[in-house]
Amino acid sequence: MASTAPQIETAPLPERPGPRRVLRHHWLVRATHWAYALAIIILIMTGLNIFGAHPRLYWGDAGSVDDRRGQWLAIGASGPAAARDGWLELNGTRHTTTGLLGVSAGPDGRPSLVAFPHWATLPAMRDLATARTWHFFFAWVLILNGLAWLGHALLSGRLWREILPSRAQLSPAHLWHDVIEHLKLNFPKGEAALSYEVLQRLAYAGVTLILLPIVILTGLAMSPGMDAAWPFLDALWGGRQSARSVHFLAMAAITGFLALHLVLVILSGPIRQVGAMITGRLAIGGQ
Ligand code: HEM
Repeated sequence: MASTAPQIETAPLPERPGPRRVLRHHWLVRATHWAYALAIIILIMTGLNIFGAHPRLYWGDAGSVDDRRGQWLAIGASGPAAARDGWLELNGTRHTTTGLLGVSAGPDGRPSLVAFPHWATLPAMRDLATARTWHFFFAWVLILNGLAWLGHALLSGRLWREILPSRAQLSPAHLWHDVIEHLKLNFPKGEAALSYEVLQRLAYAGVTLILLPIVILTGLAMSPGMDAAWPFLDALWGGRQSARSVHFLAMAAITGFLALHLVLVILSGPIRQVGAMITGRLAIGGQ
């Protein structure tokens, strides 16, 4: 029996371009990115363990508990044994920091007198020898990895194409526009997602070309062997203790970058972005 059901005319749908998966990150960029992340996280955590052996920073060439003329930062604890307060002293002014700096919960939950909390240091317990061994090993990983990243960026031309902001991007109007877009959480889509915007470029160039070289040069300045071979390394920073202070400040700035970097990756689509930094491919278009 012939069907009496009404026939629905189906007009062909207009062709919509499907999503394209394009190569976004070269394998060397991905490999060096994850090596940077691993080395830097281990360097920060082992560095905080080493810092705990003498949690004071000075300007100049020398400084100690008995010679605090150049001291600008100290972390400590005071008060009766049962209820000690942790503190951070900055340029002579004390701030109570119990729970975070000076005194914090140990692995057994009881108060522990350490500069930085156990969860922030590697090893978790005070262990200067192990922390130094790991720190120096990963410092060389960082240096070799940085040279590979920089060599590739220079030879391929992506240092200028992709990392350093262009003159047009640095115009106040363009900078302001990018700040507003970030505040509105409007991140580049489609083809525009295939290159970094100006704030991203400034942040990546700042970390790779300014902060990491500073942290490496100040680290070398503190190494007795290097310092003996190249005495100018210490002089460059105004003395061994100044080099240690600048090393710490650069580490703090890198930690700030990492926190902001992670927040922005999460806000801009973590699966898509981290996926692209792992596989190299980014899906664009198809909306
Ligand atoms: C201290 C650790 C880290 C440093 C120094 C760092 C630094 C950088 C740099 C310099 C770039 C640009 C890479 C290039 O094009 O050459 C980048 C991109 C990126 N990073 Fe990191 N990163 C760190 C940790 C992480 C972590 C832990 C994640 C995620 C879990 C992450 C996710 C990404 C993603 C998704 C991009 C690409 C962003 C885009 O294409 O818009 N990073 N990072």
